[in-house]
Amino acid sequence: MEGKGDIKEKKLIVGISGATGAIYGIRLLEVLKEMGVETHLVITKPAERTILYETDYTVDEVIALATYHYDIDNTGGAIASGSFVVDGMVVIPCSIKTLSAIAHSYNENLLVRAADVTLKERRKLVLVVRETPLHRGHLELMSKVVDLGALILPPVTAFYTLPKSLDDVINHTVGKVLTFFGIPHGLFRAWDRRQGEVIKELGR
Ligand SMILES: Cc1cc2nc3c(=O)[nH]c(=O)nc-3n(C[C@H](O)[C@H](O)[C@H](O)COP(=O)(O)O)c2cc1C
Repeated sequence: MEGKGDIKEKKLIVGISGATGAIYGIRLLEVLKEMGVETHLVITKPAERTILYETDYTVDEVIALATYHYDIDNTGGAIASGSFVVDGMVVIPCSIKTLSAIAHSYNENLLVRAADVTLKERRKLVLVVRETPLHRGHLELMSKVVDLGALILPPVTAFYTLPKSLDDVINHTVGKVLTFFGIPHGLFRAWDRRQGEVIKELGR
């Protein structure tokens, strides 16, 4: 059955592509591992580079955070088939190239194929698209995948959570992803009534 309630029964595909912000994908894997959620990881070749440039992790250490790992060129891997049932997929971070491939079903690698399968099976697909600024073509690609059923969730922080560190900023985006999959977490401080009262006192 899809969309199971118990967190430990959930299965998610995690794709890491070569946009800056590999740490978002790594943090998501860390949190899901701690929660006991089964993860199926696929990493693009450019993402292997960003992991090394931007973080203190080796690619093998990132792979070790996942329950299962698939080679990007293995387009026959389990996650390439709709008969392999999962609760959904997250591409985090998602480059414009990977966004474009997903928008056009250009299934040249296992990450894009798995995303295409997620859409055709009407499962949840979250794309943490990272690029700025954006031209009209980028916006049109996002619009196209939204029409196909994906959720665009850019790594854009909120300041009402009162972030104190880069970790807080990263956790905010990861928390938004978890919320979308119905996974409870304490990764950021939710907006509360007290904060609302402050605004009311200001009369705004
Ligand atoms: C350090 C670094 C940062 C990058 N950041 C971005 C980015 O934020 N967004 C993006 O779309 N591409 C970014 N790129 C370019 C992608 O890595 C490149 O387009 C690559 O071909 C994407 O392939 P993939 O989608 O298969 O991972 C970056 C490249 C490097 C080396």
